[in-house]
Amino acid sequence: MGADMNSINKIPTHVAIIMDGNGRWAKQRGMERYEGHLAGVESVRSVVRAAVRNGVKWLTLYAFSTENWGRPVQEVEAIMQLFCRTVIGEGEELAQQGVRVKILGERTHFSAAVVEMIERIESVTAAGDRLTLVLAFNYSSRREMMLAVRDIASRVAAGEMAVEDITEQSISGALMTANMPDPDFIIRTSGECRLSNFLLWQASYSEFYFPEVLWPDFDEEEFDKALRVYAERDRRFGLVTEDNSNEIHGQ
Ligand code: FPP
Repeated sequence: MGADMNSINKIPTHVAIIMDGNGRWAKQRGMERYEGHLAGVESVRSVVRAAVRNGVKWLTLYAFSTENWGRPVQEVEAIMQLFCRTVIGEGEELAQQGVRVKILGERTHFSAAVVEMIERIESVTAAGDRLTLVLAFNYSSRREMMLAVRDIASRVAAGEMAVEDITEQSISGALMTANMPDPDFIIRTSGECRLSNFLLWQASYSEFYFPEVLWPDFDEEEFDKALRVYAERDRRFGLVTEDNSNEIHGQ
């Protein structure tokens, strides 16, 4: 494969994004918050295209947190509708692009129609092998961990598992993200520097990037820029790099 001039030499396997700033984007324009979310869907399309083009294998988007149920009912309804409409409408197109869609989160709160829609998009796109697009919807990390602890505790109580078998791997395997790689790179738009209950366990060694740009303005070019920022990072996973190992050991 020939590298073109714009190719980036270190592509993260898994990019996770906290899409923030839709409301502020709308307010700046005297629009309703809903219109910010609508514009945000365009950014979702852009980053999916850019992720496929760059060879990113996993893209997780934080679309709706468990806490978001506390927003005004009209806004919750609007996000639900947008989510369903987009996910249903894009199924074929995503499948053609080689995108497999997975929904991450608890399905218990949703109506039967929403659950059916989720199952349909997952099955229509199941063969996609270029990119797995994970949409975190009704997801929160602490709740995910609490459910995993309950699951492990009940297996121990039932005698199916020994306490010594509780390892980092078995905990990872009990989370909703069991079959996903940890995120290499987490982006939060709009200048906010928080994780807000997103992938807390999985983010142990992630690199973070907090661009000022609001989510509806985050386009393919911004995604490419973020990948260039990642390529410059030096990930050490608690170890030392070759270049400075002598220096550190010599101290
Ligand atoms: C954050 O902006 C955005 C959300 C909580 C909703 C994101 C939802 C979508 C883009 C639509 C559906 C998603 C998919 C994947 C099709 P905010 O409202 O918190 O903005 P603010 O902080 O400026 O108020």
